[in-house]
Amino acid sequence: MCGVRKKGGAGKTVTTKNLAAAFSKLGKSVLVVGLDCQHYLSNLQGFEPDGKGH
Ligand SMILES: Nc1ncnc2c1ncn2[C@@H]1O[C@H](COP(=O)(O)OP(=O)(O)OP(=O)(O)O)[C@@H](O)[C@H]1O
Ligand SMILES: [Mg+2]
Repeated sequence: MCGVRKKGGAGKTVTTKNLAAAFSKLGKSVLVVGLDCQHYLSNLQGFEPDGKGH
């Protein structure tokens, strides 16, 4: 799946994160790739820009 919308702040990242969590809970293997240099998707999942996190 790929979510694209030109408008900023429309919920793309949060929707991606929630869909990934939902599929994971259903037992699916999920790979989430965020291409935004602001790394918000990584932050939402507890990872920091320096590679540390939980
Ligand atoms: N369904 C929702 N209900 C309420 N708030 C939401 C919802 N979806 C997203 N938000 C909030 O809206 C804000 C923007 O969401 P998000 O970062 O996912 O947008 P985006 O489209 O990825 O933005 P950008 O274009 O900057 O990457 C965030 O604060 C997020 O928590
Ligand atoms: Mg985003």
